[in-house]
Parts: sequence; structure tokens; C-alpha cells
Amino acid sequence: MDLGLKNRVAIVTGASKGIGAACAEILAAEGAKVVLVARTPRYLDALAKRLAKRYRTEVGFIAADMSQRGSADHIAKQVVRTFGRIDILINSAGSSQGGLFWEVSDDTWDSALQLKFLGAVRMVRAVLPTMRRQKYGRIVNVAGNTGRQPHPRLLPGATTNAALLSFTKGLSEEIMKYGIYINALQPGPTQTEHWGTLMASLSRGTGMTPKAFEKEFMKEIPMRRVAAAIEMARPVIFMASDLASYMTGRSIIVDGGWTKDLA
Ligand SMILES: NC(=O)c1ccc[n+]([C@@H]2O[C@H](COP(=O)([O-])OP(=O)(O)OC[C@H]3O[C@@H](n4cnc5c(N)ncnc54)[C@H](OP(=O)(O)O)[C@@H]3O)[C@@H](O)[C@H]2O)c1
Repeated sequence: MDLGLKNRVAIVTGASKGIGAACAEILAAEGAKVVLVARTPRYLDALAKRLAKRYRTEVGFIAADMSQRGSADHIAKQVVRTFGRIDILINSAGSSQGGLFWEVSDDTWDSALQLKFLGAVRMVRAVLPTMRRQKYGRIVNVAGNTGRQPHPRLLPGATTNAALLSFTKGLSEEIMKYGIYINALQPGPTQTEHWGTLMASLSRGTGMTPKAFEKEFMKEIPMRRVAAAIEMARPVIFMASDLASYMTGRSIIVDGGWTKDLA
């Protein structure tokens, strides 16, 4: 099936690892021109080179901290200067911490909001002038199923995800008339560095190792396993492609059956 992604210009934030890297790989495999964004240049450089060589497409990178004001405008300007357009934006940068509510510091709350919520909001704002001019754009925000089903030990991430879902829905109608669609993914547990850090922090003080804690956690997940990043990337790419031509302001929950509500 042709996803219509060949020669599309895509920006992926949080692209050096995990879900973002898996999204970048599918985009490159489909012939899109991809710009990877994260903070650490050596991971970005290695991934950009590997994808460009393997899929014979243009893959560049911009090292930037998405929690900083000014990063989003800088990225959008650079991409337009290089490729002349921006067709797809995937916001996957995020790394909020969990813990007992009364032990979570202001800094943890602040960094969750600055990176995942405001980082995505600013990035969307930065690409809109180009997408509006083109009368075409596809935006996918990687939120999290805790945005709908908050977990008591994951509140900074959960409330940030809820804000991102509200933003996604609220903006969708405004930009639809320019041919710009915006949707979100709500992943459940996914085997990435972020997940490893979460298990380590949540298991602290429980007397369990992170592995034993994860095993206990899995009892809540009907499929009894953590997803692979590629299992999240596939629905993201569906929403970024022309296959999702009648979909905006919505989200897809991919959580091994975890979320307890009607679809
Ligand atoms: N894994 C899960 O179980 C799960 C579940 C629900 C939702 N999610 C969400 O999915 C998204 C992706 O998570 P993941 O699991 O794929 O995480 P990951 O494997 O840890 O990757 C995070 C990516 O974001 C980048 N990043 C982190 N801080 C950044 C910053 N300040 N500025 C720019 N880039 C930054 C990282 O690179 P650098 O560190 O080099 O910057 C890396 O490329 C996150 O928003 C996460 O909340 C994940």
C-alpha cells in the first residue's frame, strides 16, 4: 500500500531514540526526507547516516533542546531553508518522571510541561506558516494513555499528556481549512530508555528491582507485555500519511488493552 510519503519533508522531535527513532526509520524507508531533532548530536549523526545509507534518502539532523524557547523557530527556519517546505511534524520529545505526588518537585513538573507540552505547542506554531502556505500538513503528537487514564505515580506525564490531547483537539478545527490535520498517539508501556528510567524510579522504595516491578506492573496490561517502539511508530505514520485522510483532532490508544473505557 502506498502511504504517499515519498519526498515528503518530515521533522521528528525526540528522534534519536525510542518511538521517535522508529518513526524516523519508517519515514525514511518510505522515501520521505527526514530531519531528526534531539539534544545529543552523536546519536543523531549516527542515526541520520544509517538511515540515509540504508534507504537512500535525505536524512539530516538538528541538535536542539525542545524545552528551550527559540528552538522550534530555529528548527522550522532551518528546514525551510534546506528543503523549501515542511509536510509532516511528529512531536515525540518527552521524558517526564514519576513518583509519589508529595515527593515530586516543582522542577519535575516544570520540565514535563516545558518539554513535552510547550515544546510541542511551540513546534506546531513554528511549522504552521509554512504548512498554511502549502495548504498541506500532517502533525502527530505522541502523548500517552495516562492522559486519559491518569496513574497516581505518573502525574507530571499524565497531566501533560491530557494537556497535549486537549491542544490537539482544540487546534484541529482552526487549521483543517488549510489542509492541515493534527492527531495524537496515546502509547501504553513501550520498551525504550524512557520506560527503563520510569521503572527504575517507580520501583524505588518498593523493595523490588525494576525488572520485578515491571513484571508486577504487567499484570495490569491485558497483553502482559511491553510494546516495541515500532508498534507505536506504525500508527503514528498512519496518521502522518494520506491514508488518514478523514481524521483530525483525534487520538489512537495503543496500549495492549490497558485503558479501561470504551473505544
Ligand atoms: N516509552 C513509554 O512507555 C511511553 C509511554 C507513553 C508515552 N510515551 C511518550 O512517548 C514519547 C517518546 O518517548 P520514548 O519512550 O520514545 O523516549 P526515549 O526512548 O527516552 O527517547 C526520547 C527522545 O527524546 C529526546 N529528548 C529528550 N529530552 C529532550 C529535549 N529536552 N529536547 C529535545 N529532545 C529531547 C531524546 O534524545 P536526547 O536525550 O539526546 O535529547 C530521545 O531522542 C515521550 O513523549 C513519552 O512521554 C512513552
